[in-house]
Amino acid sequence: MEIIRTVELLRQRIAEEKQLGHSVGLVPTMGALHAGHISLVERARNDNDVVVVSVFVNPTQFNNPDDLRTYPRTEKADCEKLQVAGVNYAFIPSVEEIYPEPDTRIFDLGEVAEVMEGPMRPGHFNGVAQIVSKLFAMVEPHRAYFGEKDFQQIAVIRRMVEIERFNIDIIGCPIKREDDGLAMSSRNVRLTAEQRAIAPTIYSTLTESVDYATTHSIEETKKHVIDTLNAIDQMEVEYYEIVNAATMQPIANWSDAETAVGCITVYCGEVRLIDNIKYSKR
Ligand code: PAF
Repeated sequence: MEIIRTVELLRQRIAEEKQLGHSVGLVPTMGALHAGHISLVERARNDNDVVVVSVFVNPTQFNNPDDLRTYPRTEKADCEKLQVAGVNYAFIPSVEEIYPEPDTRIFDLGEVAEVMEGPMRPGHFNGVAQIVSKLFAMVEPHRAYFGEKDFQQIAVIRRMVEIERFNIDIIGCPIKREDDGLAMSSRNVRLTAEQRAIAPTIYSTLTESVDYATTHSIEETKKHVIDTLNAIDQMEVEYYEIVNAATMQPIANWSDAETAVGCITVYCGEVRLIDNIKYSKR
């Protein structure tokens, strides 16, 4: 695996690979890699001749300076994991390399960015669109891989791809979970032992709600999930929305969407955790 720190060298290597007729898969990450990221790499390796993983804590997508400051940075361990996973190129640029001047682009991300994380984290999705569009322009991959834990983010990236007319397949990959069901996240390391012990109730409550939903309305199901989690000490639901998986818009009836997705954000102490679950049409 080659570690690349400049856009110039990245472009050179990609051009060489494409000259050889190789297909390229890109896995954008912010580092602090865990088995969830590695599952994206495995899928990318399976689908492509060459895999590029970017490791870059993108400042423009953080609307909270403390979150940016404390975001885990574990470059050495990340490189070891990527090497073992068979990655060809790890692109690890500095902030100056990516943003030699401020990125002032505002993307018209439309309705998919107007709900849930959109209003909760103003500017976040625009920052994601900025960095992902830059990476796409630098690598011009055939395919790019994103985890479905950030379900809304994938919809936003698809929208950005449409606006920018990138010819790139966006591939959403299933959430990787710990044995007790907690969705893998770089933020999990911030949980205290006590918080870590209660965090799996997010997923158990969501899975249990799929059954509950068969005999209850959307409103009742949402209330059930929120009340169950809020009753646990140290847990506070920020939002729970049941949306149409295709549009990200909240639905009022189960018949309103082919696939409905329940998207949740919960504060477990100070740590903001997200997860989601699919409900099928009935
Ligand atoms: O999901 C993430 O880790 C980030 O939002 C991404 C897609 C790597 C962009 O910085």
